[in-house]
Amino acid sequence: MISVAIDGPAGAGKSTIARKLAAKIGAIYIDSGSMYRALTYKALCNQVSLDDEDALVSLLKNSQIVLEQNLEGQQIFLDGKNVTEEIRSPVISQHVSAVARHPKVREIMVQLQREYAKENSVVMDGRDIGTVVLPHADVKIFLTASVEERAERRYKELLHKGYQPIISEILSDIKERDRLDIERETSPLKKAEDAIEIDATHLTIDQVVEKVYQLCSKDNH
Ligand code: CDP
Repeated sequence: MISVAIDGPAGAGKSTIARKLAAKIGAIYIDSGSMYRALTYKALCNQVSLDDEDALVSLLKNSQIVLEQNLEGQQIFLDGKNVTEEIRSPVISQHVSAVARHPKVREIMVQLQREYAKENSVVMDGRDIGTVVLPHADVKIFLTASVEERAERRYKELLHKGYQPIISEILSDIKERDRLDIERETSPLKKAEDAIEIDATHLTIDQVVEKVYQLCSKDNH
C-alpha cells in the first residue's frame, strides 16, 4: 500500500496529475476538494447560509457523499445524484472556500477522507492532505505554478466545458480563493515540512507525473 499527498493552490493541475499518477501506480484517486464542492453545491441549492457553521454541519450530516472510480476518473455522488460536472462550475468555485473554512465541517470531511486511505493505496489531492489528513503519507508533493499560468489553464478548461469564461475574472477568483485558503485558521493551505515542492509553470502534465512517479518508485513502502 502507498499513500501520496498532493497539495497546492487553486488550478495548479493537482487533480489531473493525481488522476494520472493513480492509474499508473494502481491506486485510487481521491479529490478531496470535490467533497467541499459537493457540500457547497447542496448549501447553495438549499439556501443555507455559508456563514452558518452549525447549519452546514447538519446539512453535511444529512448528506451522503460518495466517491466512485470509473474509466473517466472519479465520479462524485451527492445523495445518489451524480454531481461531478455541476460542482466544477465557476459559482461553486467562488463559494467553496467560505464553506471549507469552518473547523467542524473540516473535521467530518477529514474523517471521511482518512477512511478511503485506510483500505486502499491512494493518491489524494487538496490543501491539507500532507499536513493534516495524511501526515504519514509515503510521498508528499506541493505543486505550484505561477498564478497567470493557473488562470490560463482554468480558462481553457472552462472554455472546453462550454462556459464563456473571462480571463481577468478567473485570475481574480483564483487569487481570492488562494488568499482565503492560506489565511484561514484551521488547516490552511501550506507546504508540509517534508513535502517536495514542484513548480509546474514550465512543465507539461506528463513531465510532472513522471517526476512524482519517480519519487513513488524510490520510496520504500
Ligand atoms: O481544483 P481546484 O484547485 O480549483 O480546487 P479544489 O481542489 O476542487 O478545492 C476547492 C476548494 O476546497 C479549495 O479552494 C479549498 O477552499 C477547499 N479545500 C480544502 O479546504 N481542503 C482540501 N483538502 C481540499 C479543498
